[in-house]
Amino acid sequence: MLTGKNIIVTGAASGIGAETAKQLKAAGAKVIAVDRNEPDVPVDAFHKVDLTDEAALDALIEELKPLNADGLANIAGVPPTAPPEVVLTVNLVALKRLTLGLMDSLADGASIVNLASLAGIGWEGEVAKIKAAEGLDHAGVADFCTANGISSDNSYFFGKQALIAWTHENRWTWRDRGIRMNAVSPGPVDTPILGDFLETLGERAEEDMRIMDRPGTPADIAPVVTFLLSDGSVWLRGVNIATDGGMRANIDATSNGLS
Ligand SMILES: NC(=O)c1ccc[n+]([C@@H]2O[C@H](COP(=O)([O-])OP(=O)(O)OC[C@H]3O[C@@H](n4cnc5c(N)ncnc54)[C@H](O)[C@@H]3O)[C@@H](O)[C@H]2O)c1
Repeated sequence: MLTGKNIIVTGAASGIGAETAKQLKAAGAKVIAVDRNEPDVPVDAFHKVDLTDEAALDALIEELKPLNADGLANIAGVPPTAPPEVVLTVNLVALKRLTLGLMDSLADGASIVNLASLAGIGWEGEVAKIKAAEGLDHAGVADFCTANGISSDNSYFFGKQALIAWTHENRWTWRDRGIRMNAVSPGPVDTPILGDFLETLGERAEEDMRIMDRPGTPADIAPVVTFLLSDGSVWLRGVNIATDGGMRANIDATSNGLS
C-alpha cells in the first residue's frame, strides 16, 4: 500500500525516524530524509537541514514542493535536556512550519504523522497556553517561553501537548483533498535520547520504568507510523495513538478508580 509513494521523514538519521525510514523502504515507498545528520539507513534522497534555522527550513520547503509528497512523517525531535526554546522550536514550531509550508504541494490523499509522546498527556489543561502558541514563529519562541513560564521543566511536555492538540484540531482541515493528520505517542523508547528523558523526569521516570515490562524500541513504534502513512488508515483522522506498552491505558484506568 506504500509502493511508489514519496514519503518525507524528518529525524531519519536516528532512533524512531531511522527505523521508520527502513520500514517504509521495505514497504516499497521512496523515502526523502530530512535531518541535521546524515542517515546511515538507505534513503532515496537526503536533505541536511537544522530545523532551528528558519531560512534553511523555508529553503527546504521550496526544494520539497515539487515532490508532491504522499506522506510526511514529522519525527525529528529533541529531548527536554535541550534549551527550552530549542525544544519548542524543533518539536512544535518548525514541525508546523514544514507541514503548512508543504500543504499546497502535497498529493491528494496524503497522510501526515506527528511523533508526539506520552508526555503530551493532559493537553486539555493547557488550552489557553496552546492557543497563545498557535501563530508562533522561530523568532517569537524565546519571548513566548519567558511570557508563559516555559522552562526546562515543562518545555518538552508543553511542546508535545500542543502537538497533540494541533493534530486533533486539524482532523478535518484538509478533508476535501483527502489529506489527514494523526499522531503517535510513544512511552519511553530505547533510543539515544532515552537517557535524557530519564534525567529530566527523575522520580516520575523511575516509576514508569518500574511498572513497565520493558522500554519500547524503535521497531515497536515504526510500524504504527507506517500504518498511518498507508491507505489502510484512511478513516483515521486527528487521532493520537498511544504506542506505549499500555502506559496510557494504565494511567486512564487507575486515575478513574479501575484496577
Ligand atoms: N525515545 C523516546 O523515549 C521517545 C518517547 C516519546 C516520543 N519520542 C519522540 O520521538 C521522536 C524521535 O525521537 P528518538 O527517540 O528517535 O530520538 P533520536 O535522537 O534517536 O532521533 C531524533 C532525530 O531528530 C534529529 N533532529 C533533532 N534536532 C534536529 C534539528 N534541529 N534539525 C534536524 N534534525 C534534528 C536528530 O538528528 C535525530 O536524528 C522525537 O520527536 C521524540 O520527542 C521519543
